[in-house]
Amino acid sequence: MFGFIKALLGICQTKPLSGDLWSLEGDKVRVKLSQMPEPLQKRGAVYLTGQGLSMPILIMRTEDDQHLAFANRCTHSGRKLDPVSGESVLRCCSVGHSTFDYEGNRLSGWAKEPLTCHAVEKSDGDLIITL
Ligand code: FES
Repeated sequence: MFGFIKALLGICQTKPLSGDLWSLEGDKVRVKLSQMPEPLQKRGAVYLTGQGLSMPILIMRTEDDQHLAFANRCTHSGRKLDPVSGESVLRCCSVGHSTFDYEGNRLSGWAKEPLTCHAVEKSDGDLIITL
């Protein structure tokens, strides 16, 4: 029951990353990966919001240790996304529960359009995300 209420309100499980661990530099976002108090778990995620970003960004670490970045906005109606435990899938936290693969392709649910994916590279231990 509580899960349904959370979905109704669009409350996601993924937490925001502290603003002192990332910065917006023109059309790039630098994430101070090496300064994070704990590394992201495999299939774990955080999101960035505010600080001049036009749209929240979801950052996740895959099972094979890659970092991916997506616009953290479901293409159905804009709710945030969570990684799905044990699957290589992102799921909208709203009741429509649209799902997307790691390339942003829509798999199921009410959304019709794919997610926007952002290029990610590593530089001096930081993640650089191109918007
Ligand atoms: S906002 Fe994601 S399914 Fe509706």
